[in-house]
Amino acid sequence: MAGIEFGASDRLESMRLLVDAELEALIENEIESGSGQVAELCGSVLLAGGKRLRPLLILLAHEIAGGTDIEEIMPLALASEMIHTATLVHDDINDEASHRRGVETIHSRVGLPKAVIAGDWLFTKGFGLGGCYEENIVRILAQYCADLAVSEFEQLDHVLDLTTSPEDYLRIVRGKTAGPFGAGCYAAGLVAGLSDERAYSLKQFGMELGIAFQLVDDLLDLRGDERMGKPRGADVIEGKMTLPLIHALTLSHGKQRVRLAELIEDFSDEDFDELMDLLNRSDSMKYTEILVKTHLERAVTNLNAFVDSDAKKHMVSITDYVMNRHM
Ligand code: IPE
Ligand code: IPE
Ligand code: MG
Ligand code: MG
Ligand code: MG
Repeated sequence: MAGIEFGASDRLESMRLLVDAELEALIENEIESGSGQVAELCGSVLLAGGKRLRPLLILLAHEIAGGTDIEEIMPLALASEMIHTATLVHDDINDEASHRRGVETIHSRVGLPKAVIAGDWLFTKGFGLGGCYEENIVRILAQYCADLAVSEFEQLDHVLDLTTSPEDYLRIVRGKTAGPFGAGCYAAGLVAGLSDERAYSLKQFGMELGIAFQLVDDLLDLRGDERMGKPRGADVIEGKMTLPLIHALTLSHGKQRVRLAELIEDFSDEDFDELMDLLNRSDSMKYTEILVKTHLERAVTNLNAFVDSDAKKHMVSITDYVMNRHM
């Protein structure tokens, strides 16, 4: 997978390489100490080139909060990436995805039973890393993982539910995507010694960024962006109710509404242009883009509580990166 482009930031790139190296060492160590095929399989997805947004934001949130010892926060950063990758392994089973990060998904290679266990292994190892912190941090980790599960359940209950509201969508996104970003930044601030109130600003930064990030992921799915490494409209085929669809269903009337419902309920690739046409008639892609911008602006506002610094600059550049991804 192509590397992530954060404008011209060498600093972010070198932080990303550091995270990559730590993850690589961790997997090598596991293989050497006897974890065998499960570590190899998990390593093949873990090291296949994710963007590492969660660990990077944790390192930066720690720094903006005044943390100076990167070793103090690295286990939390690695934990976030292990847990994130665990959710991807399980998400790909549920979404019947054939590829992830440019490589074949674990369940496609070795079948469902081993893929479920591989995801559990990543979760467990991630939690083991997170377990070296004080109880309040461990609780934050446990809560976001539990919330993620609740939201993934809820999302399944909304498959092909054409009455899904924007509020339903937002609640699911807060749990499945924004929560992990928010919790990571919050916990990083606390580890660096911030008061709960100031760490809360970092949590809000992460939540707003995470909401925007999922909105962009959903937009890119509809646009058929090659960076996604999967066919366009995979979400529609899955029956996932994303915001552009929810918005269009609300605003469309008469024959258009009927046709839109038909397309969503039984979608295939040849319907793609017609679906996009209907979404554009209600400006639903544009509406979603405006929301991306709003949430990213809110994210940055939460950094106002911190004095200007290199870390702050890079956190803002990650919000720019998320903004530019969909353009
Ligand atoms: C994918 O996350 C799942 C979503 C929350 C949309 P990323 O887009 O961060 O995936 P990687 O880690 O870069 O592969
Ligand atoms: C994010 O949702 C999944 C998790 C937060 C586990 P998606 O289902 O949209 O993720 P992708 O698009 O497969 O990466
Ligand atoms: Mg998926
Ligand atoms: Mg999914
Ligand atoms: Mg997606």
